[in-house]
Amino acid sequence: MAYIDTKKIKSDFPIFGNVPEGFAYLDNAATSQTPCFVIDALTEYYTKHRANIHRGSYALAEEATARYEEARERIALFIGAEKEEIVVSGGATLASNMLILMLEAAHTYRAGEEIVTTVSEHHSLLVPLQELAERNGMVLRFAPLDKDGVVDEKAVVKLITRKTRIVAMSMASNVTGAVMPYERAMRAAKEAGAIGILDGTAYIGHAPVDMTTCSADAMFFSGHKMCGPTGVGILYMKGSLMKRLRPVFFGGGIVEEVTKDGARCTDAPYKFEAGTQPIAQIIGLGKAAEYLSGIGLEAISAHVRELVDYARTELESIPGVTLYAAPAEKNIGIVSFTVLGIHAHDIAHIAVEEGVALRAGHHCAEPLVRELGVVATVRASFYVYNTKEDVDALVCAIKKAQRVFT
Ligand code: ALA
Repeated sequence: MAYIDTKKIKSDFPIFGNVPEGFAYLDNAATSQTPCFVIDALTEYYTKHRANIHRGSYALAEEATARYEEARERIALFIGAEKEEIVVSGGATLASNMLILMLEAAHTYRAGEEIVTTVSEHHSLLVPLQELAERNGMVLRFAPLDKDGVVDEKAVVKLITRKTRIVAMSMASNVTGAVMPYERAMRAAKEAGAIGILDGTAYIGHAPVDMTTCSADAMFFSGHKMCGPTGVGILYMKGSLMKRLRPVFFGGGIVEEVTKDGARCTDAPYKFEAGTQPIAQIIGLGKAAEYLSGIGLEAISAHVRELVDYARTELESIPGVTLYAAPAEKNIGIVSFTVLGIHAHDIAHIAVEEGVALRAGHHCAEPLVRELGVVATVRASFYVYNTKEDVDALVCAIKKAQRVFT
């Protein structure tokens, strides 16, 4: 059964008219492509409404502000949050770093206290956590993964104790596609009085989410992996956490009053948005959320799972291929693999010649790739516009690499 009319969807993405016929774009976990609906919103801002926000009282400034705040509302709706819980940021990495710095500024962390995380985290979460632990003498505890690359739910819950101050993990792995038991972990964090943080970067825009019913205190994601522009991300925080935190970046736009002695900040979420924000990008991200909602997140998730299932079956039938990918029903749309005797980068290189875009390497999740017992994997990541023909092209590329290199 077709969950998505990929022919129609593909026609929404101008880039596919500018690449050779049959080009298989399978690097969506690095960045997705952008539909006209989003590109038009960017052009409209630049050609009709460009001005700074929350400052001027002339028409252009009011139009820009209205569109910026509409986008905040649209994004809140998309993840089941209140608009006051949405902080605009320059990307997931900035959002993650900012959150951890704000937590550190607001709490006294003591030597020996613990941060529970998993071995499959992206560097944008893991490294700031390591730095936080290092500065405060805290200990990082890593929940193990099961054979599908899914965090062992019982093990993560067991690791959370009275010593735990933060529980931080991704909703889905950007290497194996494994969807994590994040809600159970966040509930355990809450019960233990720890802060629960989710990295939604690989997940948001790929499957439905409702932060109202999720126990996490905070969650961050980028715009560019869900058909939005680059240079924009979101930090979601529950109102209770927002109230306790003070900004760590200061500047224009977030202060009520500044004297020679100090400054008084505006209310959340605005106090976390110092300086001129990525205005066009957030407007574009709001449109991306609208576009994906129009297709339906359930349909998107079912579509990519169908492709994962097909890719797993096809790749498994090639001698020498080892898969590092969660089964389709637990997968957000990502299949990593290695091919016996051929370096991951050589596979990706041959794939280029065959019109297939892949990523090879450790995918900014080096501890996970090491845990898998390899130095690098090749990664194919699927999204709304991908088809089984794209998987067939991938299979041809692997077979060609095997002919060339073995
Ligand atoms: N974090 C991005 C990826 O997984 C860049 O490829």
